[in-house]
Amino acid sequence: MAKVKTSYYCQSCGAQHSKWQGQCSSCRQWNTIVEEVVQKKEEKQWASSRSKEERIAKPVNISQITFSQEPRLDTKDGELNRVLGGGLVPGSLTLLGGEPGIGKSTLLLQISLQLPYKTLYVSGEESLQQIKMRAERINPAPSNCFILTETKTQSIFQQISRLEPEVVIIDSIQTLHSDYIESSPGSISQIRETTAELIKYAKDSGVPVLLIGHINKEGNIAGPKVLEHMVDTVLQFEGDRNFVFRILRAHKNRFGSTNELGIYEMQGEGLRQVSNPSEILISKNDEELSGTSIAATLEGMRPLMIEIQALVSTAVYGTPQRSTTGYNAKRLNMLLAVLEKRAGFKLAAKDVFLNITGGITVDDPAIDLAVVAAILSSNEDISVDRSICFAAEVGLAGEIRSVPRIEQRISEAEKLGFSHIVVSKNAKISKGSFSINIQRMGRIEDLVEFLFG
Ligand code: TYD
Ligand code: MG
Repeated sequence: MAKVKTSYYCQSCGAQHSKWQGQCSSCRQWNTIVEEVVQKKEEKQWASSRSKEERIAKPVNISQITFSQEPRLDTKDGELNRVLGGGLVPGSLTLLGGEPGIGKSTLLLQISLQLPYKTLYVSGEESLQQIKMRAERINPAPSNCFILTETKTQSIFQQISRLEPEVVIIDSIQTLHSDYIESSPGSISQIRETTAELIKYAKDSGVPVLLIGHINKEGNIAGPKVLEHMVDTVLQFEGDRNFVFRILRAHKNRFGSTNELGIYEMQGEGLRQVSNPSEILISKNDEELSGTSIAATLEGMRPLMIEIQALVSTAVYGTPQRSTTGYNAKRLNMLLAVLEKRAGFKLAAKDVFLNITGGITVDDPAIDLAVVAAILSSNEDISVDRSICFAAEVGLAGEIRSVPRIEQRISEAEKLGFSHIVVSKNAKISKGSFSINIQRMGRIEDLVEFLFG
């Protein structure tokens, strides 16, 4: 074991201390002191096939840099490929965060089982038997995946140099520990050091590494913020645990856009890719019910049709209740005020409940018009034709405003067989060949006229 020197640094002002203390004596901040490796003898812990000789970096004129598109590794998972921007980049570090039980281990085990490359899945959380049981449920077909239950990075690198995998998966970064640091696994200094070792391995060997990261109660990835700076890609696996849908989102991506998103459904046999989410989010109810409407929204770059349900009833108590699921409550109050003032609906003494079906949360203002339509429909007890959908924002003056990427929303509505889409009269549609009926409106009153004639 190489001799390692560590020291204690304040994460706020950078002052060095000889021992750990609760408060930094230099900047007076509390709990900012962290142990760091100052100097360690560089010993290659893994055999690298790519970097035979030490490379010494020299400045190169940018015009002389030849750019060859590195082939990406196809993960055989369309949703993950899309979120990554086309597949795994060789030598990249990807961090996958998410709530406990959301399915992070399931997703990455499923990926490792179907990868056509030699994959090493390192688990510090589950036993071999547990992983085998899960793998049997997901995909019992033989695969090129190796499982290692180990938490010490030095031992992991030893196994890596023996096995020479083409993809490495770590479940999870919070369980790893490095011999160089004394603090316990999961502490800031351990996470930092083990991540740094993994980055060095990935960059030297060209093997992509996927890390699972726990999140803390504020919803951030547990450990230092610097972890997110160190890795190339940060993915977040979201969704309400009680619902079957899971959304995979890129928060940071050095090799692609962060606008893409992947949707999965948790089933008994693992996660199923959902390539057409609109079909499941809209209930296949042929009955015409009052209080529901359909909005053409965008999740990242993907158009998504969602169903909005509203219930307006006379308030039983003095103060009317306003309650929303999946929608901003302040925005609902604003829309109710607009309806009251601009369209003359008396909603002040009514309870209003609003729900976005499927357990998803939407903050796209383009669903405003659909929310208004659902509220009016419930209030009047007249159903909105289910072949109509909406895509517009509602302003404080009761005006119907245009929203970005309207053509994408229109073509999604057309593809799904809607007969009408209601948009703002100012919406800029350059493509003229839609077969769907585009209804342009300028004011809330026009909507009332359109819906209830
Ligand atoms: P898991 O991947 O262990 O979550 P994480 O690693 O994010 O903590 O997810 C486990 C949940 O998924 C668990 O509650 C059971 C459920 N699940 C299924 O519904 N079907 C399956 O095939 C598997 C493997 C898990
Ligand atoms: Mg797990």
